[in-house]
Amino acid sequence: MESLATYHILPAGPGDAGALARVHVRSWRETYEGLLPAAFLAQMNGAVYARRWRAMLMRPEPPELVLCAEGAGGVVGYCAGSKASGAAQVSTLYILKAAQGRGLGRRLLGSVARVMAAQGAASLRLWVLNGNEGARAFYERLGGTPRGERAVGGWGGGHRETAYDWPDIDALVDFAAEH
Ligand SMILES: CC(C)(COP(=O)(O)OP(=O)(O)OC[C@H]1O[C@@H](n2cnc3c(N)ncnc32)[C@H](O)[C@@H]1OP(=O)(O)O)[C@@H](O)C(=O)NCCC(=O)NCCS
Repeated sequence: MESLATYHILPAGPGDAGALARVHVRSWRETYEGLLPAAFLAQMNGAVYARRWRAMLMRPEPPELVLCAEGAGGVVGYCAGSKASGAAQVSTLYILKAAQGRGLGRRLLGSVARVMAAQGAASLRLWVLNGNEGARAFYERLGGTPRGERAVGGWGGGHRETAYDWPDIDALVDFAAEH
């Protein structure tokens, strides 16, 4: 098993689009089997996601910061976030199953939070699909508090997600760095 120290957390660029898309599709299938419709997961297309990632990362000022976790075999995870009106929002955090449970989620989320805090964000929020118990336990372990629910559009309807808040982003940055 590759140890945490051999992974690097790096800003993603347009050249990482293909690798991000591969992780994206595989990780969604691993995470959402039984939670999202099988037909949706089956039709996810790496080439389509690669084009989307590339288009986003090629913008002169990408709307999101994207950090990836890279090991000897390439990219195994990523996290993306942005800041608006003094609050950071993390839109996505995915690690391949084979690389989970060795501290990469903590490092990725902590690193995005650190950059957002340095850019002036005071708090951080993200949304997690109800039923994604593993991710919810992870966010609670990192000090996040559930704060309200909303319906999510798409996937045939009927899905809901829950917000997790860190009112003090520095607490998340410190916690992620210390553990
Ligand atoms: C959720 C996810 C990002 C966590 O990343 P990870 O690298 O596996 O987690 P880490 O190894 O950094 O764990 C950090 C802490 O959270 C705890 N934790 C992680 N996953 C957990 C789980 N499923 N249940 C309970 N605790 C968990 C770890 O035990 C660890 O606690 P410790 O400090 O006491 O050792 C990762 O498992 C993942 O990508 N899951 C699938 C995709 C997903 O659900 N993404 C979120 C979408 S909103």
